[in-house]
Amino acid sequence: MPVNLRGRSYLKLLDYTPAEIRYLLELSKDFKRMKRTGTPHRYLEGKNIVLLFEKTSTRTRCSFEVAGRDLGLGVTYLDPGSSQMGKKESIADTARVLGRMYDGIEYRGFSQKTVEDLAKYSGVPVWNGLTDEFHPTQMLADILTIEEHFGYSKGIRFTYMGDARNNMGNSLMVVCAKLGLHFTACAPKELFPAPELVAECEKIAAETGGSVRLTEDVAEGTRDADVLYTDIWVSMGEPDEVWETRINLLKPYQVNAAAMANAKPTAVFMHCLPSFHDTNTTIGAEIAKKYGITEMEVTDQVFESKQSLVFDEAENRMHTIKAVIYATLA
Ligand code: CP
Ligand code: NVA
Repeated sequence: MPVNLRGRSYLKLLDYTPAEIRYLLELSKDFKRMKRTGTPHRYLEGKNIVLLFEKTSTRTRCSFEVAGRDLGLGVTYLDPGSSQMGKKESIADTARVLGRMYDGIEYRGFSQKTVEDLAKYSGVPVWNGLTDEFHPTQMLADILTIEEHFGYSKGIRFTYMGDARNNMGNSLMVVCAKLGLHFTACAPKELFPAPELVAECEKIAAETGGSVRLTEDVAEGTRDADVLYTDIWVSMGEPDEVWETRINLLKPYQVNAAAMANAKPTAVFMHCLPSFHDTNTTIGAEIAKKYGITEMEVTDQVFESKQSLVFDEAENRMHTIKAVIYATLA
């Protein structure tokens, strides 16, 4: 059946079929080729999009801005301080105003309900640039990176180490289930994903040939993995007070040389970024001073190793976001 995503929002991958996700991945590959060969692709000239950010960003914001400009779009960026949203104007009212002016809306913020409401009230495609619950644009970049490296993604043994119930843990479990990868969340049980989401992903995986496994055991979770993936231990929006407990809980789940050695010899390291792999950041330096650790979710050695695909992933954010914008607006 042909895939047509025109007019659709991109809020979470649970809303998308494997064929639709595959279509977005193939489109991303086309756009990446065009960018590399300098082939103009201003297919959406005359349209405009707005980017709403209630949390900070480097990759997602820049990806939407560059992708939008490459497609010939007008792009407006609004940060939390420069719009009325939430403080003086409800989400529903904001959505109805923006929907009158723009052809598409990107939102990064806290609750998944906000992005769902923007889509409900604006009448134009809305793209989720990260909420506390899901980070669906990151997923396309990650799978594209895996496919570029291995030549395929179905059947890949994918292990996520760390806070497995945050936006990244949730979304990676969903995309792996949708595309038939073998997903393992390797985490302390306090940070396992919600049982309802696990059950839903198990059901999906049963149809796609994938699988879902949760384990607290690092040796078991990393054994023979193709991909070891991690994310920061404390996410945006969480209070500073959680650092101490989180460090103690997640220290054993650091991606280090021992974890990589237990994975396949061909294994790769992945991370959505930003990452605390040294003390060259304000927070990294503060944590080092306070808790005596100089590397957190990944060691600098693994981060900088040949097995690390992190900057390919970062570049692929732009190509994949371009595919989402194009597929839903063209
Ligand atoms: N990976 C990611 O979403 O990065 P930013 O927070 O910089 O957008
Ligand atoms: N879990 C992280 C992802 C950042 C891209 C956060 O929400 O801060």
